Amino acid sequence: MAQGRPPLALSSISLFIFLSIVLPLHDCLPHSPGSLLKDAAQKASDMAVEVAGYVDVAKQIIDLAVYGAAQNRSYRRLADFTDTIGNRVSGSHNLDKAIKYMYTAMSQDGLDVHLEPVKIPHWVRGKETAEMVLPRTKNLAILGLGSSVGTPPEGIEAEVLVVQSFDELKVRASEAAGKIVVFNQPFVSYGETVAYRAYGASEAAKVGAVATLIRSITPFSINSPHTGWQDYQDGVKRIPTACITVEDAELMFRISRRGQKIVVRLMMGATTLPDADSFNTVAEIVGWQHPEQVVLLSGHLDSWDVGQGAMDDGGGAIISWEALSIIKDLGLRPRRTLRTVLWTAEEQGGVGAQQYYNLHKVNMSNYNLVMESDLGTFTPVALQFTGSNAARKVMEQVLKLLAPINTTKLETHGEGTDISPWMQAGVPGASLHVADNKYFWFHHSEGDTMTVQNPRDMDLCTAVWAVVAYVVADLQDMLPR
Ligand SMILES: *[C@@H]1O[C@H](CO)[C@@H](O)[C@H](O)[C@H]1NC(C)=O
Ligand SMILES: *[C@@H]1O[C@H](CO)[C@@H](O)[C@H](O)[C@H]1NC(C)=O
Ligand SMILES: *[C@@H]1O[C@H](CO)[C@@H](O)[C@H](O)[C@H]1NC(C)=O
Ligand SMILES: [Zn+2]
Repeated sequence: MAQGRPPLALSSISLFIFLSIVLPLHDCLPHSPGSLLKDAAQKASDMAVEVAGYVDVAKQIIDLAVYGAAQNRSYRRLADFTDTIGNRVSGSHNLDKAIKYMYTAMSQDGLDVHLEPVKIPHWVRGKETAEMVLPRTKNLAILGLGSSVGTPPEGIEAEVLVVQSFDELKVRASEAAGKIVVFNQPFVSYGETVAYRAYGASEAAKVGAVATLIRSITPFSINSPHTGWQDYQDGVKRIPTACITVEDAELMFRISRRGQKIVVRLMMGATTLPDADSFNTVAEIVGWQHPEQVVLLSGHLDSWDVGQGAMDDGGGAIISWEALSIIKDLGLRPRRTLRTVLWTAEEQGGVGAQQYYNLHKVNMSNYNLVMESDLGTFTPVALQFTGSNAARKVMEQVLKLLAPINTTKLETHGEGTDISPWMQAGVPGASLHVADNKYFWFHHSEGDTMTVQNPRDMDLCTAVWAVVAYVVADLQDMLPR
């Protein structure tokens, strides 16, 4: 904390305790107790004036990222990275190569880079096929779900029970034994509907099903299956589980409602190997005044084992790197440390991030702001923010600096699997909100490629990320808690 000044968020009781303990020891404090309290009341307007002093530097960052020499660089870097490495599922050789690639690339930009070891899950898809054999033959496009067991080598051939909800499964529980349960739940929202992908297998196993096929969690489909993590419940039989396409789920639903018998043959070679060695990749510009205080920017480097992982979350990882490079290119160095972390094994439940939190939470009071971009890097529309009202006032001022690119909106609820432990512990957190109405069309599917990315949108995302991170890291005081 700077110059013995108390943090803004101190309640009057803790302020009283603070003053009684600290003041006698620090007669050099520039304020009397009364004026300290007045300070707290005035701080917001002081802060607004201070932040407004960054208008020029914000313009420099925006100009370089969006109109200057760095134009299209985020996109070019993402394309080079994902075209070269491909997708990067937890435990894969590709993920190792991705970490080495980023280590080298960020070092070449003059950033201080190091790796922090993490043990991560190692699930392997293997070969998988599904075919409807009754009432007619038809191939079903599937993607097994992360952590699913495989089928026996000869596969599973069984009659199908189609349901549209967990409630319907309960009502029809007596029909489920020995069957493959097909969930044809409507898409409401990702947050709500993903429960079918996550828990469908265990719910079906409880009523005696031998496997589950789940309608992909997407509002739009051109016969594309979408994968993702699923969770077996303890003490419940583990049955194979995969996602099918919206089209095939609706097809089997219609056939079943006509009273026709459906039989599916499913083969899945999925298996889980012992945990693998991996790393969180960390790059820094060390702060000149408070090197121990940190603004953390992040995205995750792993992806699913389909498509290129360009959108989820190659884009978030690249803009978190690029933001530091832009700041470095401009010869800027903030008071506090800017730290980019490229998480490993996010898709398996934020494994790398949880380990980082466990290791570094001892320094929680030095974490000024944690940021994550994992909702796409399309046109930025706002910054989502979790923090106290006092911190929100500061952030509102910071966002005004983005007026030249029309991204001045500050919303509530920062989100991101990887930063959520910090936010839950009271550290201010921010996430990038982009025009994401098509995000779940491509999410966790073969459709997540460079083709969905746009160079200008990525430049704008980089500019938002760089301005917010730089200014918050350079202000006199940490964000109030
Ligand atoms: C950036 O890409 C756009 C096309 O998307 C192109 O018109 C422009 O010239 C490129 N700028 C640079 C500096 O390469
Ligand atoms: C905690 O911060 C101190 C002081 O900056 C640093 O020396 C130490 O390495 C940090 N510990 C961890 C686990 O990051
Ligand atoms: C911001 O909005 C103004 C006014 O609508 C427009 O002229 C400008 O092109 C926009 N800038 C960006 C980067 O979208
Ligand atoms: Zn992601």
